[in-house]
Amino acid sequence: MKNKTIWSNRFKNKTSQSFQKIGASIHIDKRLYEHDIAASIVHTQMLMKQKIIQSEVGNKIINGLKKIKAQIDKGSFEFKEKYEDIHLNIEKALFEIIGPSAGFLHTARSRNDQVVTDFKLWIKNASNEIIKDILVVMKKLIKKAEKNTDTVMPGLTHLKNAQPISFAHYLLSYYEMLKRDKKRFENNLELLDECPLGSAALSGTSYKIDRTYTAKKLGFKKPTDNSMDSVGDRDFAIDFLYASAVCAMHLSRLAEDFIIYNSDAFNLISFNDSMLTGSSIMPQKKNPDPAELIRGKVGINYGKLNAMLTIMKGLPTTYFKDMQDDKELVFGSYDTLKDTLNMSAELINSVNANKTNMLYMANQGYTTATDFADYLVENKNLSFRESYVISTKLVNYAEKSKKLLSELDLEEIKKFYKDLDKSVLKVFDVKNSMNAKKSHGGTSVINVKSMIKKYKREI
Ligand code: ARG
Repeated sequence: MKNKTIWSNRFKNKTSQSFQKIGASIHIDKRLYEHDIAASIVHTQMLMKQKIIQSEVGNKIINGLKKIKAQIDKGSFEFKEKYEDIHLNIEKALFEIIGPSAGFLHTARSRNDQVVTDFKLWIKNASNEIIKDILVVMKKLIKKAEKNTDTVMPGLTHLKNAQPISFAHYLLSYYEMLKRDKKRFENNLELLDECPLGSAALSGTSYKIDRTYTAKKLGFKKPTDNSMDSVGDRDFAIDFLYASAVCAMHLSRLAEDFIIYNSDAFNLISFNDSMLTGSSIMPQKKNPDPAELIRGKVGINYGKLNAMLTIMKGLPTTYFKDMQDDKELVFGSYDTLKDTLNMSAELINSVNANKTNMLYMANQGYTTATDFADYLVENKNLSFRESYVISTKLVNYAEKSKKLLSELDLEEIKKFYKDLDKSVLKVFDVKNSMNAKKSHGGTSVINVKSMIKKYKREI
């Protein structure tokens, strides 16, 4: 059997070279080795407990598997393409270390339940890692927000100046997005928490195995309930890819905001030089490359989600080799998102608000026009639509006279509504406008400060 495939006795011809090349997944799925060995050890312990294999044999297997793990950890293990994947590489190596006793390991299991068990374990671990990284970004947002609760900037819709907001309120909008991202990964952790091991090829097994024991020992809530679904289910991979894609999309939007705010035309924020690159020809340039990479990386996460959905579409029930590419997609999406999250944390940390220009820009574009309308509603018993029209006329007048709303005097304003006193003037102050937004979730300093308190408690 040395150097031969497990199924060589059934096959007349050697495996095609081209097939070996696309069929082998070892270069990708070797990342599953820790989980594959952990699952094999638990499976062996269960076989011993159930007296399906002898303790002596079981102990040999477990020791052999531990040796293999140590070799892989050290980097001295030789992965062989001809043994296709991580499962067969480990099984083959076990034969070399402990001899024929290795043949008892694969009792009551198949690679079909083995691979999905390993993969679920890997995704559990990866999700917890991503959750930690998301939390780091959330903390950076809070830290930056704390310093900017009264930093007034123009809030934009359609990239046109809309209403004054605080830079803190802006930053914390991303806190909320990331909080949902974290929850998406947590939801998947809950949904995938059933162990497929023992489903075997597709129909279960005739051995008296204890699936609750293996499930619990591997950290799952319970075993899966249908062996056919178990070996064909890749929902947990799709959910992971979807959660990754949405999270990367949020970071891409943040990066795009930053790129715009950092542009010479806007000049609302600046970055530390460590977040910038120069130009090979233009000596003056400082370009925000890290932000641009964060903006672009999401393309990789979308692509991998799309590829996985397409692989699964129309696939008849149970296992097919098509599914083997699932791991490359998930590993790639994970690596990309991890880099993107780490980069985002640093980028947020390095952002500086150009407060003077933020305030100046918040005053441009008649951003307090709504506040004037609201003042008329509250004090003059007008409907909002009536007030809206009066305020529109005031804006038209200011535009024509090339003045800011805050530069108009009482006499000018009274041309549009007679019965006014100087108390109206404060509505054109952008800070006042910001602090007037005291409704739940609004941008007033008082609200934002209490939100920060809440966020600090929950994080
Ligand atoms: N390398 C395979 C995969 O990742 C393992 C499962 C193989 N099962 C099979 N029936 N060929 O999908």
